[in-house]
Amino acid sequence: MTEQRATNVHWHEGDITREHRGKILGHRGATLWFTGLSGSGKSTVAVELEGLLNEMGVLSYRLDGDNVRLGINKNLGFSAEDRTENVRRIGEIAKLFVDTGIIALSSFVSPYAADRDQVRVLHEEADMDFIEVFVDCSLEAAESRDPKGLYKKARAGEIKNFTGIDDPYEAPANPEVHLHSDKQSLEEEVNQILELLLERGIIKS
Ligand code: ADX
Repeated sequence: MTEQRATNVHWHEGDITREHRGKILGHRGATLWFTGLSGSGKSTVAVELEGLLNEMGVLSYRLDGDNVRLGINKNLGFSAEDRTENVRRIGEIAKLFVDTGIIALSSFVSPYAADRDQVRVLHEEADMDFIEVFVDCSLEAAESRDPKGLYKKARAGEIKNFTGIDDPYEAPANPEVHLHSDKQSLEEEVNQILELLLERGIIKS
């Protein structure tokens, strides 16, 4: 748990609530937290889902590991502490989106279960939907795809602490959605997520 450093700070409540904002958008916000190995297909699924939601008139926004690390998290690397801080910040940002009424599509390796669970708790405390989507893919399949050539570099010792090679990945024990990206089609994966969003009443058909 990150310590609160500033003292004498108090939450300032406004007049407009999440419900007010939801009425404008016609749906409520939620965080879909995609977790899995690099190259597992997290971003691919998120991009496809974003397109479909857009067609349905549902506002979503992708928060993506590489993109966020080029901006707000550019001061973070891949040590265990930095990964924890990466996930903590994204968790807080995702919450802001949910409060606005937007579906946040967060795709991060987020290899440590405790960090993901912390984001889950923050959402639950704020009465927000947190949907963990495990993009399950064997290391062999992710490594054979190697879209950015990073596994090759990690195997050659040119990248240290690479998830799946010399840094651990802790698979979710109880994800809301469990995809098998090395066996399922993209369409099947996206439908599985859409079904849950409909079932929970987050979006309407
Ligand atoms: S996380 O572990 O902190 O959640 P994040 O999802 O933001 O990681 O970034 C992972 C992306 O950064 C990978 O998809 C890959 O492109 C790149 N990357 C560079 N170095 C590493 C590394 N050591 N471990 C994992 N991914 C890395």
